[in-house]
Amino acid sequence: MILEENVSLRPYNTFGMDVRARWFARFRTTEELRELLADPTVQANEKLILGGGSNMLLTKDFPGVVLKNEISDVEFVDMPDGHVLVLAGGGMGWHDLVEQTIEAGFGGLENLSLIPGTVGAAPLQNIGAYGTELKDVFDHLEAVSMQTGEVRRFNAPDCGFGYRESVFKRELKGQFIVVMVALKLKRSPTDFRTDYGDIQTTLREMGVGADQLTARHVSAAVQQIRRSKLPDPAQVGNAGSFFKNPEISVTQYETLKEQFPNVPGYVTAMGRVKVPAGWLIEQAGWKGHQRGTPGVAGGAPIPTHGVHDRQALVLVNHGGAKGDEVWALAQEIIASVETKFGVLLSPEVNVL
Ligand code: EPU
Repeated sequence: MILEENVSLRPYNTFGMDVRARWFARFRTTEELRELLADPTVQANEKLILGGGSNMLLTKDFPGVVLKNEISDVEFVDMPDGHVLVLAGGGMGWHDLVEQTIEAGFGGLENLSLIPGTVGAAPLQNIGAYGTELKDVFDHLEAVSMQTGEVRRFNAPDCGFGYRESVFKRELKGQFIVVMVALKLKRSPTDFRTDYGDIQTTLREMGVGADQLTARHVSAAVQQIRRSKLPDPAQVGNAGSFFKNPEISVTQYETLKEQFPNVPGYVTAMGRVKVPAGWLIEQAGWKGHQRGTPGVAGGAPIPTHGVHDRQALVLVNHGGAKGDEVWALAQEIIASVETKFGVLLSPEVNVL
């Protein structure tokens, strides 16, 4: 067990924010994690668990211990009913897992292709894309208590999954570290979810007919759509959607529609209306907005951060931006959307 001191977190967050952790340690097994949790320095300090660092905006140095999850073993267990249970280590890259299951011919994760982050972080915010959410394939998970070091099993009802929500973001926030996630996938899938957004159009463009469809095809289509809209964190710092899509009442939606007839809206299972935050932000004039430092000797300003030009829901760090500058921009966007539409946006990323 190695506890490093004063470590830059820049390589560990997809926004690329250069803040420092007072202490930093990695763990590759549950045992190593338990050892760390028993260490006096770790016990005495505030802790932050890091997966892929793809859903956080770091605005300041972290005064405690950062624990980086690197548990990355996978196991497939056959189930009697045409399903397979996939047991994956919490520190594994989410998309690596998706690839392995698709390679094995399993169905269920194809719509969730290319989502940044780790397996262990996926249940925290019930990751979702293109009509599928983690909870649709979730079986159970194992998590270690930060307080006692004991391993606890959580079945789906224990997780309190909602839209980008779970019990681990609410009541149990900061109390457990997810070490293993078990997903129930189809061994030989025949039906796929292609009704969302551009999936069908993309499949047609790829020349794939409905009768020859495989999980690999759907995954390829999703990857193509994501690459066309969402910036690659390896090139431009970002954390995916910065805000959640707000849910408003039907009455409020109708009032809004009188004033803005084009406002999109999707009725949710709870009878509320989900409005795409990307649309609101774009209409408020922010899409492609850039901020930066003044150029040298009267030259053009050098952009450091802003709003992505192909998906207004994504804030970007072009390089050199500070977390609090991005946060200040986010707050201005929230205020301007509220003034124009009377709708309050809330961040989807964790701001630390
Ligand atoms: N839109 C605009 N302008 C924009 C962006 C979007 O007008 O700049 C409108 C369009 O009407 C579009 C609609 O918003 O039809 C929906 O856009 P999109 O399909 O890109 O999805 P989203 O609602 O903006 C959500 C998730 C994404 C996920 C996609 C696809 C949230 C907060 N975000 O975005 O998740 O990939 O759907 O399923 O729910 C993430 O969580 O980090 C993430 C990227």
